[in-house]
Amino acid sequence: MYNRINIKEKEVITVDVIIRKENSDEYGIVNDVIKSAFFKENKISDFNEWNLVSDIRNSPYYINELSLVAEYDNKIVGHIMYTPMSIINDGNINESLALAPLSVHKDYQNKGIGSKLMTESIKKAKSLGYTSIIVLGHPKLYKKFGFIEALNYNIGLDEECNNPYLFALELEKDSLSNVKGIVKYCDPFYSDGELI
Ligand SMILES: CC(C)(COP(=O)(O)OP(=O)(O)OC[C@H]1O[C@@H](n2cnc3c(N)ncnc32)[C@H](O)[C@@H]1OP(=O)(O)O)[C@@H](O)C(=O)NCCC(=O)NCCS
Repeated sequence: MYNRINIKEKEVITVDVIIRKENSDEYGIVNDVIKSAFFKENKISDFNEWNLVSDIRNSPYYINELSLVAEYDNKIVGHIMYTPMSIINDGNINESLALAPLSVHKDYQNKGIGSKLMTESIKKAKSLGYTSIIVLGHPKLYKKFGFIEALNYNIGLDEECNNPYLFALELEKDSLSNVKGIVKYCDPFYSDGELI
């Protein structure tokens, strides 16, 4: 008795991209890339990711070494940003790094550019001495880079620490093993005290 397994092959075209720091004279172009990635016609919200990135750039929380662009064929086609994050437990503060947002221009998605931004930025964060990264997002996107559910470390968005979409990555072995608590993004992520 044989089981027929149908494997639907996905065509993946990978392209050569350079990952590097963004320059201040490129902010407009980078914002257009973020807009292209996130823009949704019927999304009625004052919040949008390109304004968030601009607010972060104008804040003390901006880390130029970790605001990276993907350049392909002399064009900027992707961007990734990290900001300082605290994990707070009973007044104890542990420093971490928040990944957000990650954007690839809509015309260049599914070519491995987002993955390259992930792998290169993780390496960079490690080389700068950061010990962990936290991200809120889709499991399919982050688990393949080693992230696990933050709830495994009792790290969460609130005291329940049970959000299945919050992920954590140790950049140093066991760096999160004794860290539990509630994550706090930097100020531009909040409006009227609420996470935007
Ligand atoms: C998510 C995103 C950055 C991925 O970039 P990309 O260059 O297309 O990614 P890659 O080609 O390296 O990898 C594609 C993989 O990501 C997955 N993926 C793409 N978009 C995804 C999404 N929104 N959520 C979950 N997984 C996604 C694909 O299914 C594929 O997975 P596979 O290789 O296991 O089949 C890009 O699609 C994008 O900018 N999306 C809109 C903005 C967004 O949702 N950002 C992430 C949240 S901050």
